[in-house]
Amino acid sequence: MSDTEETISNKDNDVLKGKNNEEVIESRDLIVARNLDKTYHGKSEVKALSNLSFTVKRGGVFTLLGRNGSGKTTTVKLLSTLLRRDSGDLSVFGFDPNISAEEIRKKISIVPQEGKPIEYLTPRESIYFYLRMRGFTKEEAERRTEMVIIDFLIDNFSDQRCFTLSVGQKQIVLVAMAFAPNPELIFLDEPTIGLDPLARQRVWKKIIEIKSSTTIFLTTHYMEEAEFLSDIVLIIKEGKSIKQGSPKELIKQFKYKHKVTINNYGNENITSQYIISKKLNDSLVIYLNENELDKVVQQLVKDGLEITINKVSLEDVFISVMDEDHEK
Ligand SMILES: Nc1ncnc2c1ncn2[C@@H]1O[C@H](COP(=O)(O)OP(=O)(O)O)[C@@H](O)[C@H]1O
Ligand SMILES: [Mg+2]
Repeated sequence: MSDTEETISNKDNDVLKGKNNEEVIESRDLIVARNLDKTYHGKSEVKALSNLSFTVKRGGVFTLLGRNGSGKTTTVKLLSTLLRRDSGDLSVFGFDPNISAEEIRKKISIVPQEGKPIEYLTPRESIYFYLRMRGFTKEEAERRTEMVIIDFLIDNFSDQRCFTLSVGQKQIVLVAMAFAPNPELIFLDEPTIGLDPLARQRVWKKIIEIKSSTTIFLTTHYMEEAEFLSDIVLIIKEGKSIKQGSPKELIKQFKYKHKVTINNYGNENITSQYIISKKLNDSLVIYLNENELDKVVQQLVKDGLEITINKVSLEDVFISVMDEDHEK
């Protein structure tokens, strides 16, 4: 048996006996993806995923980062049984989505990218009927509906038909629907797109609240969100895995510790020898380490430049990884 096959068969699983003496597989590996491939056959062929492998542990936030078109939504669709892979091995809760989609669907919910709630239902009805469909009793469905309406600040438009809602209001309704049944695994494909800052904070708060007992599979373009929420980040490019680690690990691995931004940078004559930087609109970014920081900052101030000093963030890591790869 090869290494890969061994991983797929979950060698770390504890096999327990359930009530009816059936085998219950308990695994810390909730999702095991090995060498996933997916090509779309449209007018032209698009290879969306190429040999993509990763493992998602039970509990916590696993975040997929990548530029537009890098294969995030395709990955979410494969894992959540909405799309079939071409090849590779995939196990979600120990089930293969191509074979046992129903088993997986019972345990997951999803905020799909560009999803919309049913137009002629109100948010309250949408959430309630969704819960009823998932098998909750009337009382429990009502209780949970009221809870998420409060949690996600939906109360002042909860009885308006969804077609009358703004883009952000529709989006938060979808998020509330996904959280309402409290499933074991939630897929959130750019969930906070279009949300106002208060609504976004509510989503973050809810994720933090449940993440020790629920697994969240997140995609986002907001690096601040990814850094704040994620336990593990996987950066992909053109459907291939580029880098994985916790935000802290990725930031620690970055070559520099500090980021100095020179604001309103025009054609000033900078004498610093440390300009190893990127020009961004009218500002210039310099990455520095501890030993150089004081000296360079003093020099820049002496040059009469207005500067901002920050610690390196996940955004810097992301941009640098994309740049490096671009330059190859
Ligand atoms: N239904 C489709 N038909 C053809 N190409 C598609 C389809 N869906 C996605 N793609 C292509 O697959 C690639 C990955 O898309 P996607 O997974 O949506 O990326 P992301 O979510 O990271 O922006 C892109 O090049 C996109 O154009
Ligand atoms: Mg997408």
